[in-house]
Amino acid sequence: MMDWTDSPCRVLHRALTRHALLYTEMVTAQAVLHGDRARLLSFDACEHPVALQLGGSDAPSLAAAARIAQDFGYDEIDLNVGCPSDRVQSGRFGACLMREPVLVGDCVAAMRAAVSIPVTVKCRIGVDDQDPEQSLRALIDACAVAGVRVFAVHARKAWLEGLSPKENRDVPPLDYELVYRVKRERPHLAILVNGGIESLEQAQVHLRHVDGVMLGRAAYQNPMLLAQVDARFFGGAPVDVDAAVEVYAEYVARQLAQGGRLHPLVKPMLGLYSGQPGARLFRRHLSEHAMRDGAGIGVLREALNFVQRRDAA
Ligand SMILES: Cc1cc2nc3c(=O)[nH]c(=O)nc-3n(C[C@H](O)[C@H](O)[C@H](O)COP(=O)(O)O)c2cc1C
Repeated sequence: MMDWTDSPCRVLHRALTRHALLYTEMVTAQAVLHGDRARLLSFDACEHPVALQLGGSDAPSLAAAARIAQDFGYDEIDLNVGCPSDRVQSGRFGACLMREPVLVGDCVAAMRAAVSIPVTVKCRIGVDDQDPEQSLRALIDACAVAGVRVFAVHARKAWLEGLSPKENRDVPPLDYELVYRVKRERPHLAILVNGGIESLEQAQVHLRHVDGVMLGRAAYQNPMLLAQVDARFFGGAPVDVDAAVEVYAEYVARQLAQGGRLHPLVKPMLGLYSGQPGARLFRRHLSEHAMRDGAGIGVLREALNFVQRRDAA
């Protein structure tokens, strides 16, 4: 997610779940080809398994960008067919590609030919006046013919005319049933459902119908729920939140020692402890002090004192 799932955010999320697949922010193929690659693509070794999400609609550029991403060590390349922003539409990628399934099929075919890691697609169910019953199937089938096996479906249309990107994440109604039907008709494909899933209980219900669940906002608004994911869905050990936060605090200290600034490093922590005693003080302390020049690990330690169990100290 743009402006959220940067490398520090993923390191925190990985401390909370060993098994969930993590995704980068969307990076355009052109940025990968012509931009500051090290800044755009570097990630911490602990983040695996991690997918790079690419945006674009020029097959050769996407193929070249996918190859570069594979060389960087990503585990999967995901193509964005869901982002509704104007900037994205003018560049002819994101959600508006729901109207061009053949082009998207060509893109993923070129990407698959360029890499040995999985190429996946994140899409909407349609845009504007499209009939989602038709547009979702057309998009998925065009990509499946090209060999894509995994689709994450944000189960609502994007209205490119008249709604802001923010409104497009909440206003068009969710249609989970359509996603379930498409899965039933195509049992050989892995279909992940996304959109409006706020708890692991809800995720569990979806998993009766589809192969996976993708969490968006819940993952950063309430990262603690990730601590339940391994035990609940992957047969893994329960994760101790304080221990995970300590792992992340040590990462923060290392990043600071290498010249990093505190504020972007604590941003992914702001949703931690939400609803728990001390959470507001924790957030306020970080918001007020982490921006200051030279803010160090002490600011984080002080903030944690508001929320961590006293007997754990
Ligand atoms: C701040 C923000 C940034 C997002 N950036 C991306 C992105 O880069 N790529 C993408 O596929 N979806 C992006 N999305 C959409 C989410 O992945 C997700 O599809 C959407 O928020 C619905 O899921 P949710 O209700 O679980 O949040 C973004 C959403 C938000 C709120």
